[in-house]
Amino acid sequence: MTTRTGMTTITTDTATGTDPRMIAQDLRFSVAPMMDWTDRQCRAFHRVLSRRARLYTEMVTTGAVLHGDRERLLGFDAVEQPVAVQLGGSDPGDLARAARIAEAFGYAEVNLNVGCPSDRVQDGRFGACLMREPALVGDCVAAMKAAVSVPVTVKCRLGVDDQDTEEALDALAGAVVAAGVDGLIVHARKAWLKGLSPRENRDVPPLDYGRVARLKATRPDLPIAINGGVRTIGDACDRLAEVDGVMIGRAAYTEPALLLEVDPEIFGEPAPVPDAFAAVEALAPTIHDALARGMRLHAFTRHMLGLFNGRPGARAFRRHLATAGMAPDADLSTLRAAVAKVSRERPPARAAEAA
Ligand SMILES: Cc1cc2nc3c(=O)[nH]c(=O)nc-3n(C[C@H](O)[C@H](O)[C@H](O)COP(=O)(O)O)c2cc1C
Repeated sequence: MTTRTGMTTITTDTATGTDPRMIAQDLRFSVAPMMDWTDRQCRAFHRVLSRRARLYTEMVTTGAVLHGDRERLLGFDAVEQPVAVQLGGSDPGDLARAARIAEAFGYAEVNLNVGCPSDRVQDGRFGACLMREPALVGDCVAAMKAAVSVPVTVKCRLGVDDQDTEEALDALAGAVVAAGVDGLIVHARKAWLKGLSPRENRDVPPLDYGRVARLKATRPDLPIAINGGVRTIGDACDRLAEVDGVMIGRAAYTEPALLLEVDPEIFGEPAPVPDAFAAVEALAPTIHDALARGMRLHAFTRHMLGLFNGRPGARAFRRHLATAGMAPDADLSTLRAAVAKVSRERPPARAAEAA
């Protein structure tokens, strides 16, 4: 099978190698870290839609890892693999300790957040404001690299506030490459640390994919993934002409069925299930086990609301989950009753949402 982008496939079942070509392959497609969204239940759901997409945790701060309930914060199920943990912090020693703990939990990659613009994160002097401190980010990466054998990556912005994005991104990339980083994921827009909310910071500053392509051209050996505003797998394939990988956030969450195209279109492998209906059944055993442990159905279904978007009955599916699905005793039969409201006939294009 050939992929839409005509890539040569390198097999990487483990993530322990540091061959940049293998890391580039690992970063080829991923679902972005998203606070409150990409939790364990979300990742288990996304995994039934793609075997190959790399999945990221929500950001976990070093303070939480070092002093909090680690099992709750870091525990995950092997079926979610490959999963990367995203850490937030700026103390090299703390990051090294947190990375070692995360590695022991089995994560395939440790990623450092240099892109989050929230006030809470700025108070802690980490996230996007670290774009102003490339030397410190380099120290953090070096400490994490010395602590773990899994790949260490950084997710960053083009720059912050009035920084020149040519200089800021080059400085950040130079510092992390010197520290031995295994890959860089660039959210292709600036962050404004004052005046814009985190949400606005994901839309208002303009995207500049060209800047990321220029970085790749000057650093051909550094695996680079691009993030921001990619809405379809077709768009992702276009971006893969310029960089090694694409990370999709909101579109993957709100339109999860697009993940069914990832394995065939990007990796040249069959999708794990034929369609969204089969995906629900593939997830059913995981949901069954979780309900038996006392979890609520909603913990899964809140991430699944967009699964049937574009099909007649999608709205009735969502409504059923938002009503019956919220009951404390809602179970797999509730989910299946919601699915039964969706037409199995493929609608022409994506026009049938009005149903
Ligand atoms: C609800 C939400 C939570 C997010 N949380 C994080 C986070 O914890 N760490 C991070 O690096 N980025 C976070 N982001 C940003 C995304 O990872 C991504 O960079 C951004 O949404 C742009 O990609 P997209 O246009 O494909 O959504 C979050 C985004 C959303 C929508």
